[in-house]
This record gives sequence, structure tokens and C-alpha cells, in this order.
Amino acid sequence: MSKMSKIPVAVLGATGMVGQRFISLLEGHPNMELVSLVASEKREGKRYKETVNWLLDTPMPEESGKLRLYKLGTDFKELGAKLVFSALPAEEAQKVEDKFASDGAAVFSNVKVNRMRDDVPILVPEVNPEHLGLIDVQRKARKGKKSSDGFIVTNANCSTTGFVMALAPLRQFNLRKAYVSTYQALTGAGYPGVASLDILGNLIPYIGDEEDKMVAETAKILGTFENDAITPHRVKVYPTCVRVPVRDGHTETVWVELEQNDMVEVADAMMNFKGLPQRLHLPSAPDVPLVVHTKKDRPQPLKDARLGSPPARARGMAVSVGRLRAHENMIGFTLLVHNTVRGAAGGSVLNAELAISEGLVR
Ligand SMILES: NC(=O)c1ccc[n+]([C@@H]2O[C@H](COP(=O)([O-])OP(=O)(O)OC[C@H]3O[C@@H](n4cnc5c(N)ncnc54)[C@H](OP(=O)(O)O)[C@@H]3O)[C@@H](O)[C@H]2O)c1
Repeated sequence: MSKMSKIPVAVLGATGMVGQRFISLLEGHPNMELVSLVASEKREGKRYKETVNWLLDTPMPEESGKLRLYKLGTDFKELGAKLVFSALPAEEAQKVEDKFASDGAAVFSNVKVNRMRDDVPILVPEVNPEHLGLIDVQRKARKGKKSSDGFIVTNANCSTTGFVMALAPLRQFNLRKAYVSTYQALTGAGYPGVASLDILGNLIPYIGDEEDKMVAETAKILGTFENDAITPHRVKVYPTCVRVPVRDGHTETVWVELEQNDMVEVADAMMNFKGLPQRLHLPSAPDVPLVVHTKKDRPQPLKDARLGSPPARARGMAVSVGRLRAHENMIGFTLLVHNTVRGAAGGSVLNAELAISEGLVR
């Protein structure tokens, strides 16, 4: 795609933890061109590089640093974008995502507020690409309004994203129950997030809403799409979510009940798991979406959270699985997902790449 034919995109919540990841991941993107950034009113008109507290360990992309910030409430047309990535707090997203979609924007959201709407997909492209069919349902409902081109696609909550990637290849074994405990990184709480005195040398065994999200979103994502609607998967999920003093990468320990517990078959299914993004060679799709580790002490956040390359753009997009073992009728494993890459901005970018490749962004 030439620069001229790249899809112009805007990022809402551009100065936050997830917003910064978007800016980093969109640098030099082959199909999308970052044209507008939106944050809170106090930054209106300022250049990005002059106002943002850049927190990533990679340099700020030079061109993005020069962009001036818009305030939320700026008209969609004024942003000059066709596609919008949303990384706003829930209350703010609630006010604008639907309005943007009604004005014709292809909205790719990281926020919880629209995820459980019947006509909005929670897309994890390797797991449920057929759920993109809900875009047509949204468009039919918007017919006759200002524009019927727009839609909302969400990605899952960060812990759920890693969890469903690991569960997807197990659906064939009649997945019935899944017990999951999470060890969630600090960057998952945004910036400044959890106060240092609350978390240094400590952990917090409660993250508001997180367990309910894992139950509801997992059933929806693994569900089947038929006759314009999703029938949730029947898997029962039993989560416990814990915040730990790790910077990046959510670890999860999982026990699943399947109709068989043949370790070799389960490991094979995970190792060979691929989806539509791999077949289409989407720019941010890791060649190996589930990396199965055989070393007993892996995966670890510091060593494995950025796995995913090749291709180069997929760094942090693979989910790691390790410690695979069988006990009675259960299979146990540990997984790791990069919360702000695959679990947030990178997940949304891959969602957009799939929608663009399917001709859904117009
Ligand atoms: N962090 C993760 O790992 C993760 C993973 C999945 C999903 N999410 C979701 O993604 C969203 C963003 O999370 P985050 O961690 O990036 O949060 P964050 O670091 O707190 O960033 C929030 C962003 O929203 C902007 N914002 C806040 N109030 C605003 C307002 N009134 N008007 C316009 N902009 C406003 C902030 O701009 P200012 O800097 O100008 O205030 C900032 O750019 C949340 O809904 C979160 O639940 C986060």
C-alpha cells in the first residue's frame, strides 16, 4: 500500500499506557497512517512530544511526536481519520465510541463498555474471525442514519485475550471447565495506576470487575456465530485475579477439564495452532501465535513477554504456554500474555488489519 492509499487513523487516549503502545506499533505501518491524536482537554493544541510522559522503553516515533493533540469532543470529520483506535477510560469511551461509529468511523476499542453488546464482536483474530459478521448487523441497524459505514469492534480484556488464545485449540477436546488464577502486571492498571506503597513487596488479590469480565468475555469469544448472533460457549470459567509487582506481562495458571487428558495431543494442538491472521500473513500476526515452552521454569514475564517475531511487527503478539501437565482428568498449564501489546494495542491493530484485509473498512 502506498502512503497515499494507507488508511488514516486516529488514537483516542493517545497519552496513556495503551495509547503510547498504539503510537509505537503504528510507526511505519504498511496499511495505516497515524494522522490524529486525542487526549484530555488540558493538552488541546500541544505537540505530543511536549506534553506526553513517554513510558515505553522504545523511542517515541518522531513524526507522531510532532502531531498536535485534539480534545475529546472534536468532531470525527475534523480528525481526518477513517479508523479510530480507542484507549479511553470507560466513562469517556461510553460517551464517544457509538457516536463516532454513527458518524462513519471504524472504531477499534480496548474499552469494556461496548464489549458485551449483542451486535459488537470481541475479536481475537486467531480465535473467532467469523464474529466480524456482526459488522453487517451493526450496519443494517444504522441504515438510514447519517452514515452506515461505521462500526465498533472491541478486543478482549488483557487477561482474557491470553486465556482464550490458549483455550481455542482445546475446544476440539470438549472443553468443559477452566480454573484460572492471574498474576497481572502494573501496566495493566494504566498510568500512574497502583500507588507504589500499595504494591512494592506486595500483591493485591482483587482487581475490580476483572473476574466477571473473564467469565463473560471467554464464553462470548469462544462462542459460535450463526444467523447474525453469537451463541456463547458452554465452558464454565472459575477465575481469581491478582495484581503483582511486575511491569509488563500477565501470567496465568490454568487447569482445564476436557473429555480426555492426553498430554501429547494437547501439546500438539497448542503447538500447531494457527488462524486466519497467519494464513493471510497480516503484518502484526506472529508466525507462531502460541509458543509452547518445554523448560520447566518458563514462561517468565521478563524473558518471554515480547515473543512473537517473526515478523518483526509481531513482537509481543505471541502468547506463551508452559508447565503443561496432566493430573487425574485435568490438564494444567501456565500462560503469559503481554498486556499492553497482545492484550491491548497490538490486539486492536491486528483486529484492524484483519478488517481491512476483509474489505470491511470503507
Ligand atoms: N493497560 C492495559 O494493559 C489495558 C489492557 C486492555 C485494556 N485497557 C483499557 O484501555 C483503556 C486505557 O487504558 P490505559 O491503561 O492506557 O489508561 P491510562 O494510562 O490511564 O490512559 C488514559 C488515556 O485516556 C485519556 N483521558 C482520560 N480522561 C480523558 C478525558 N476526560 N477526555 C479525553 N481523554 C481522556 C488520558 O489523557 P490525559 O493523559 O490527557 O489525561 C490518557 O490518554 C482503559 O479503558 C483500560 O481499561 C488497558
